Amino acid sequence: MPAIIKQNYRGIYHYSPQENWLNDPNGMVYYKEEYHLFYQYHPYGTTWGPMHWGHAVSKDLVSWEELDIALAPDEIGMIFSGSAVVDWHNTTGFFGSEPGLVAIFTHHLAVEGSDPVQTQSLAYSKDNGRSWTKYEGNPVLRHDSYVDFRDPKVFWHEETGRWIMIVACGQTVCLYHSPDLKSWTFGSEFGTGIGFHGGVWECPDLFPLRIDEDSSRLKWVMLVSIGDDPAYTEGSRTQYFTGDFDGLAFTPDEDSNTVRWLDYGRDNYAGVSWSDVPSADGRRLFIGWMSNWKYANLIPAEEFRGAMTIPRELMLRSNQDGGVIVVQKPVRELESARIPVLELVNVSWEEAQKALSSLQLESYELHAVFASDSSFAIKVRAGGDEETVVGVDAAQGVLYVDRTKSGLHDFHEQFRGLHTAKLQSSGETVNLRIYVDRSSVEVFTNEGQVVITDLIFPDHASIGISLATDQERLLLETLSVYAIAPSA
Ligand code: FRU
Repeated sequence: MPAIIKQNYRGIYHYSPQENWLNDPNGMVYYKEEYHLFYQYHPYGTTWGPMHWGHAVSKDLVSWEELDIALAPDEIGMIFSGSAVVDWHNTTGFFGSEPGLVAIFTHHLAVEGSDPVQTQSLAYSKDNGRSWTKYEGNPVLRHDSYVDFRDPKVFWHEETGRWIMIVACGQTVCLYHSPDLKSWTFGSEFGTGIGFHGGVWECPDLFPLRIDEDSSRLKWVMLVSIGDDPAYTEGSRTQYFTGDFDGLAFTPDEDSNTVRWLDYGRDNYAGVSWSDVPSADGRRLFIGWMSNWKYANLIPAEEFRGAMTIPRELMLRSNQDGGVIVVQKPVRELESARIPVLELVNVSWEEAQKALSSLQLESYELHAVFASDSSFAIKVRAGGDEETVVGVDAAQGVLYVDRTKSGLHDFHEQFRGLHTAKLQSSGETVNLRIYVDRSSVEVFTNEGQVVITDLIFPDHASIGISLATDQERLLLETLSVYAIAPSA
């Protein structure tokens, strides 16, 4: 009998919990030189169950330390998604002279024979997130008409001097404001007749970004995740709007028919941004759950199930038609963790192919720059019958990831597939950054205008890399491969 080799799908540079189930990232906040990452966590099984907040911290967004569970269910319900902020000026009265962290989350109570009840609640920490006290006045916000009322994201709005909460309410988002995080006043509702509605609205976020890094030109970006609906093969995904926000209401740039996606893969969901990143840093940092409700409970798993995307920086770029688009790029800390494996400049297709054929890697970053009129494809995690193809079809003007032969797929009929995205025009060259890990590929084109994030489940022995092109005269301006080594 052939030996059965246990597959290891735990990413080398992607966060996953030591054990059990993970979904949405929650409460990301930067405080005292630590990036906190909380997340939806079921500590007693590898499928979704009574939700807790798991917790990890990082100094560099690459190496993560898992800490004790932060929040556990209580008599008001399970702990669903939410956010965390630093209460710098003790607006809550929870703290003394030292500021502390406040988590704002959804309590979800299952009620026999009727709809569940979702309300918003608070917890606070005086020891850098290591222990948490739930506020005795919970819940602080309820809604009489919406069953789906969840995932509060809170931020301090300098211009009006108060806290703003954006929270999903049914098929829209609601905006509230508060002086102290405890009492909330309704401001406005957004989402009727605009955007994509083929699934429940969840996990919103709202933040300003500079256009083309020009501090005199700001726009607000709203993220809204859309839950899985059996009618759509794509499953769950995240849309965004750009527009203006005056402290009460959001006014979108988009007309009612425009839908814009943050990612064109299948596995970047429920992502939101970090709070309290120092203004001297100035980045809007983002992380998503690298899965999809379509099959999240079914993906191959042993001790854990669920991982995060690599952390990314979100930015706004103006485009040719006078509008703006959200672009994203891997955080620069990942570049500091690179170990060069291969660096080629101005090479022919044959030379590149030869160099790649000597490599056997399961986890790495590959960076390729080539002329934008060339069609180009690279096979990663290749071996036996398996390959995941990342390519640019110049004639069609699309980027694609083909995971039809990427490895295990029969856990769900809609997992196999080819995912495409229209390339935004880019000048003379195309710049591809591909992050490959034990169970994922994340592809960033050009300045991050088009991104595809996909899970894959290849055999541990599928570690080949090769090029495929029908243009044998293709020249690669750059071809680099790096290992990424989180510090121990
Ligand atoms: C999104 C979501 C949230 C909810 C959480 C429950 O993936 O459905 O709306 O708070 O997951 O785990």
